[in-house]
Amino acid sequence: MSPTQPHPLPIILDCDPGHDDAIAIVVAARHTNLLGITTVAGNAPLDATTRNAIIMRDLLGLDAPVHAGANRPLVQPARHAGYVHGVSGMDGADLPEPSRPAESHDAVGFIIETCRAHEGVWLVPTGPLTNIALALRAAPDLAARIAGISVMGGGTFGNRTAAAEFNLWADPEAADMVFSYGGPLIMSGLDVTHRFQALPDRIEMVRSLPGRLAAVLSDLLDFFSETYRSRHHHITGAAVHDPCAVMALTHPHLFRREFRHVEIETHGLRTAGMTVIDQRDLKEVPDANCDVQVDVDADAAWDVVVEAIAHFSR
Ligand code: RIB
Ligand code: CA
Repeated sequence: MSPTQPHPLPIILDCDPGHDDAIAIVVAARHTNLLGITTVAGNAPLDATTRNAIIMRDLLGLDAPVHAGANRPLVQPARHAGYVHGVSGMDGADLPEPSRPAESHDAVGFIIETCRAHEGVWLVPTGPLTNIALALRAAPDLAARIAGISVMGGGTFGNRTAAAEFNLWADPEAADMVFSYGGPLIMSGLDVTHRFQALPDRIEMVRSLPGRLAAVLSDLLDFFSETYRSRHHHITGAAVHDPCAVMALTHPHLFRREFRHVEIETHGLRTAGMTVIDQRDLKEVPDANCDVQVDVDADAAWDVVVEAIAHFSR
């Protein structure tokens, strides 16, 4: 592919940076035609996630615009994850100041306009699905226009509750709209992302690279992993969730998937946000709607991450 030709995979990354969102931005910038970054409240309030996305865009030297989106879920109150990512959403590193403000506070309008102006756009949400749900509701034509949606979220177990993973727990109503939109859907849930950990030797591969980006990212991964080790009994390194949703598209051969019927619990007192994944060996189960990623070649996937960071560290 010549440097003048755009990468053949156009995506919009909708995120809530977020230590692992930061890694997803690097991989997306390296391996996709990153049309734009949209931000949503999630790991931290919207002003923090937007600031962090701009800082990552700056560190990578990208032209991609950053558009801020929803500052709270569709129905639920705003609930964040400072206990994992810190108050800033990306604690643990010496971050530069953002170069400029977001291009707009209309992420939903940007998603709609961009998907109508480009053929074959993949939406890659790695935070709560509020922006994606709002775009699908405001522009019903998007469901047939986009190439698909590759979500980080869900799983056969939870992390925010026993049943629900944070992104879908934060906005179950939005998740229900996205999981029932009717088009191609890939889910990278905790079953696969917990197999993709920032182990100490993997972080050292990043730290050994030259330049500020590698220093910042290895510091972020150290902080993120220390949080995981302090909160879990048997995890050695942070689960690097979000790049799995990008690599599902850019490196699908590194993953194993099962095509399942998946729907979102929105009313359960103890299960709201749960992905109800039908794994029954029955002929009459509902038609499958979601490619569920269940395993990953973690070493090979980590090599993709390291090469992407190295690419922007020259
Ligand atoms: O549950 C993990 C997800 O929640 C990741 O996307 C992480 O960044 C947080 O948003
Ligand atoms: Ca995220």
